[in-house]
Amino acid sequence: MRERIENIELSIRKISEKAREQDKCVRFDIGQPSFDTPEHVKKAAADGIVEQKQGYTSVTGIEKLRKAIVEEEGLKQKTGPKNAELSKENVMVATGGMGAIYSVFAAMLDSNKEAVFNDPCWGPYKLMSEVNGNQWTQVEYFDGEELRDEAKQEMKDAELVVVNTPSNPTGRMLTEKQAKNIGKFCEENDVMLLSDEVYHRLNYGKTHYSPAAYCENSVVIGSVSKNHAMTGWRIGWVVGREDDIENFAKVARGATACPPKPSQIAALEALENDSHVEEMRQVYEERRDLLVERMNELGWDFQMPEGAIYAFPEVKEDSWDFCLDMIEEGVAMVPGEPMGPESDQNVRICFGSTTKEEINKAFDILEEEL
Ligand SMILES: Cc1ncc(COP(=O)(O)O)c(C=O)c1O
Repeated sequence: MRERIENIELSIRKISEKAREQDKCVRFDIGQPSFDTPEHVKKAAADGIVEQKQGYTSVTGIEKLRKAIVEEEGLKQKTGPKNAELSKENVMVATGGMGAIYSVFAAMLDSNKEAVFNDPCWGPYKLMSEVNGNQWTQVEYFDGEELRDEAKQEMKDAELVVVNTPSNPTGRMLTEKQAKNIGKFCEENDVMLLSDEVYHRLNYGKTHYSPAAYCENSVVIGSVSKNHAMTGWRIGWVVGREDDIENFAKVARGATACPPKPSQIAALEALENDSHVEEMRQVYEERRDLLVERMNELGWDFQMPEGAIYAFPEVKEDSWDFCLDMIEEGVAMVPGEPMGPESDQNVRICFGSTTKEEINKAFDILEEEL
């Protein structure tokens, strides 16, 4: 076994294993929608299996889906890469947003090259780097609207800057100024920017701004997993410059040949007939509002979740101790510590996977315990 792989410790697994043992635990730790995939999407996939030949597709995905992804990106006020007139040639369908991100890391990052992640960030960026064998560092990006000097220092010498809006784990969204600042900085310093926008349709009264719109050397990551309640179908994508897409496709060919065809058919239906997104978004917004009310009642400090399905409050004690204790009481949350050096007293709460009743139940327990 390669030492690099043997040394990887999947620490968050401790939480889900413990939560599963606990009867009637409220599962704020699960990062996926409580909704099932919409019926019309499942039906389209089932019909597609019967009516179409189920061979491999092109490594970059079926043409209609690539075109639908161009339309989906067009829903944003602006998207990247800057100056690209997007067509299907700018799109590679991938096996999940994760497959898309991994193909970028593997194509771009040699073992001596570094990726920069925000503090806090979604844990798997680090895992993917460990598997790929590239260097990575983590630094808090912004002080208000401006990039921090320390962040600029790290970014200047890096090969790839990763930014995620709306953010997992904080639920924060980049302002227009922040998007411009980070996009322009990458452009001026000739660093590739990866903008992970897999939650772009789940926002609560805020406009989504893509930093990739300000940087030619950039890629945008998308996915049907969360926006369309399709985590298990494993369909995501990368949008980038044509030459870059060709190189990402080499990685994808070496890994999976193509994403599963039935899932691509399902994703096409989800993107073309997408009224379910707004229905689910409204439910998430109600849950977000309730969660914010209950966190305020507890006196917790947190940044207002503006998008995605997460909040990241500060609990003022070691995040691992807190989470392991609270599971015993029936509330499962994810410790912030693995998400960044400055986050060891924060916990991630996913309101996408719980009902309002469950949120109330969990906070009644927390109120009693704290
Ligand atoms: C920030 C972020 N990016 C990417 C992904 C990958 O999503 P998927 O591989 O399910 O498309 C996730 C999933 O949790 C995520 O939270």
